[in-house]
Amino acid sequence: MKALIDKITDEVTAAFKENGYDGKYGRVTVSNRPDLCEYQCNGAMAAAKEYKCAPFMISDKIAETLSGNAMFESAESVKPGFINLKISPEYLAEYVSEMKEDEGRFGCEKTKNPKTIIIDYGGPNVAKPLHVGHLRSAIIGESVKRICRYMGHNVIGDVHLGDWGLQMGLIIVELKERKPDLVYFDENYTGEYPKEAPFTISELEDIYPTASGKSKEDENFKAAALQATHELQQGRRGYQALLSHILNVSVTDLKRNYKNLNVEFDLWKGESDAQPYVPEMVQMMKDKGYAYMSDGALVVDVAEETDSKEIPPCIILKSDGASLYSTTDLATIVMRVKDYNPDSIIYLADARQSMHFIQVFRCARKTGLVRDDVELTHIGFGTMNGKDGKPFKTRDGGVMRLEYLLDEINQEMLKKITENQKSKENLDISDEEAKETARTVALAAVKYGDLSNQASKDYVFDIERFTSFEGNTGPYILYTIVRIKSILKKYEASGQSLPKSALLSAHSASEKKLMLSLSGFNAMMENAYEEKAPHRICAYIYELANAFNGFYHETKILSEENQKVQSSYIGLLMLTKDILETCIDVLGFSAPDRM
Ligand code: ARG
Repeated sequence: MKALIDKITDEVTAAFKENGYDGKYGRVTVSNRPDLCEYQCNGAMAAAKEYKCAPFMISDKIAETLSGNAMFESAESVKPGFINLKISPEYLAEYVSEMKEDEGRFGCEKTKNPKTIIIDYGGPNVAKPLHVGHLRSAIIGESVKRICRYMGHNVIGDVHLGDWGLQMGLIIVELKERKPDLVYFDENYTGEYPKEAPFTISELEDIYPTASGKSKEDENFKAAALQATHELQQGRRGYQALLSHILNVSVTDLKRNYKNLNVEFDLWKGESDAQPYVPEMVQMMKDKGYAYMSDGALVVDVAEETDSKEIPPCIILKSDGASLYSTTDLATIVMRVKDYNPDSIIYLADARQSMHFIQVFRCARKTGLVRDDVELTHIGFGTMNGKDGKPFKTRDGGVMRLEYLLDEINQEMLKKITENQKSKENLDISDEEAKETARTVALAAVKYGDLSNQASKDYVFDIERFTSFEGNTGPYILYTIVRIKSILKKYEASGQSLPKSALLSAHSASEKKLMLSLSGFNAMMENAYEEKAPHRICAYIYELANAFNGFYHETKILSEENQKVQSSYIGLLMLTKDILETCIDVLGFSAPDRM
């Protein structure tokens, strides 16, 4: 379905043309003065310059023409030359009814040119527990993935594990100190390695921080870890076998954590998977004259004449031949092109990594790793801060483990839900259901709290505000959905089935406002996709939830005596619920049946 705002623009454009003006002045926007009108066109102001007359001479004519148009309830020319529009309630009801018939899509069409899009998000580092720094990548990436998918694209989400850096060498060396007799350290060993990992996840989680601490104090330890990393990268058998154990143990744990976040990856590839592509890629860059030695390292120049700041060369290999973060990212591009031939790769990583991505993208283009028309995008997100405005930490100043943080919020939510149930004397809720509901609502609180901010901005992680049932929060949205579900249930319990018929024209201003809000769904979704911006969806559902609650407070629904009117109300509720649920699903959370 064509977006309502575009249909209105078409009519206004036609009116401009009919009066002898250029149609380009007919662009319509949602009114920024909802007290005066619903839509507005300011084109007469600009047109007046071209046609050298007073703006209202034009706006008067356009308003006159539009007044005869069935699409509008009113079209007014307002000095100095604005055109204020109100849509006809009949036309609006028809549009919204058509949306309702279009189940699951609500007038939002899938793309006619599906692209293959790889979303690189999550980016956890194996053997290190997930911390809050990984939260944003997972939450935003999951939503961007779902937005692209909803629009009909072929989307592949890849976790892109960090499994190739110094942390691997650190773990190997620490493990060797703890268990020197393990066969993995015996260079002369040629047999098969055991299937069972020589450590558990909790051991692994203890090994890494210990090793990392030691490497900061002990030069020799650090040198040994660098050496082990190098040998691993050169393919030493025992270390490769250890790497797969580390991966297995770590990935099992990561999957559990991501599941709790309702985050799901299609691919569990890591940096190490790209290693086989490194030698040939490096050779090509040398052969074609892109890569050269500088201060012992192999580099590719990526600066451009138009740069306003200095963009240093992209380092391809360190002086000892070891791979770097940029090496693995470039080789991963080679791998992805070979495996999936994507039209677009989108990376979710901290905004502080933006230089890295500029270098990698330029290098990939310059050396021809991707077709010219492949889009490479870094969505850089801001920092999650505590209430003190500094990066989020535990009370004692340490790095906050994601698991603990979520546990804390779940507990907080459980308290609220239990209190809420008591106040409503809904005491029939079981402990199990209360816990499950708390988890669902807590996740919505965390995700909405994050996603409602523009990704690039820093934001304050304020548990109290995020978990509130009022205001611009996840729980408020869920509460609205739950309220609708409960009305629909009561309606059905009275023996009536949910209506399929078209909606009647709005009976009140609040009902019209709700319909207007619903009608913006398709345009909003397209915009959220174009901008890869989940916060657009949040802003939309907040407005929609407000419009619904405004309608709900002013309207008797279940006690409405006119059956036709009542069934139209119920239809409107169904559509509101379906759209809200579709939106939160795209954001990556869900609503309980009651709370
Ligand atoms: N593992 C990295 C980190 O923790 C994030 C990876 C982002 N993705 C990428 N292809 N570089 O910072």
